[in-house]
Amino acid sequence: MNRIGNRVAHFPSVDSTNSTAAAHSSDATNHGLVITADAQTAGRGQYQRTWQAPAGSGILMSVLLFPLDELRRASILTAWAAVSVCETILQATGQQATIKWPNDVLIHGKKVCGILCEGGAKHIVAGIGLNVNQSADDFEKMGLPDATSLAIVAGNAFDVPNLTSHLIQQLDAKYDRLIHGDIATLEGDWKERIGLIGQQVIVEKMDGRELAGRLREMAFDGVVVEFADGSIGTLPPEAIRHLRQHSQ
Ligand code: BTN
Repeated sequence: MNRIGNRVAHFPSVDSTNSTAAAHSSDATNHGLVITADAQTAGRGQYQRTWQAPAGSGILMSVLLFPLDELRRASILTAWAAVSVCETILQATGQQATIKWPNDVLIHGKKVCGILCEGGAKHIVAGIGLNVNQSADDFEKMGLPDATSLAIVAGNAFDVPNLTSHLIQQLDAKYDRLIHGDIATLEGDWKERIGLIGQQVIVEKMDGRELAGRLREMAFDGVVVEFADGSIGTLPPEAIRHLRQHSQ
């Protein structure tokens, strides 16, 4: 193993760790390079949002990958990062985190981590922002009432470099399984952490249209929904912007 994190470059401050990692994407020998930073001046989130974190308060990390064709999919690599974060959180705090489609990790319904996968023809950068030592006051000042951190949840502070090493180990072990053809283990963990099978859901498609039905199955090959008339629809995960429980 040890392909993810074979090199780790840490910076006090960068614009975005995703951009810093992408700057190395012309050379495939940089596969597995991890960029971390104490602070970002232009941290990016999904849908042109920003990612804010006081310096040194959390993990700001990007992994540069040159995946095989079958793994170069946002759904698989976002799930890989999200499940790795959930396992790291479980080891560190004993808490079972959940995944909110497609790229958020939650504890007790509050966001503790966001993931941003960006890519080109051959490479993908998987960016992870994990809130570690922020206080409730920090989130209030940033106008983020729905955010939480590991310190808030556990009641104690964490060593960010140590936690970063644990996360890299998780990412490496899970990537190793993927490249050896075991996608099913990740798929099962992803499905369990999303936890919506059998429930009434709203599926918001990338084109903005919404579908309502019962979630029958979730796989990287297709998300299966049963509609009220008994018909079945199957969508590739990449066609789904949001998948959430249908509040009655
Ligand atoms: C989201 O929740 O919208 C995704 C947030 C992703 C933030 C991380 S922080 C490290 C990496 N660098 C970035 O600029 N963004 C990701």
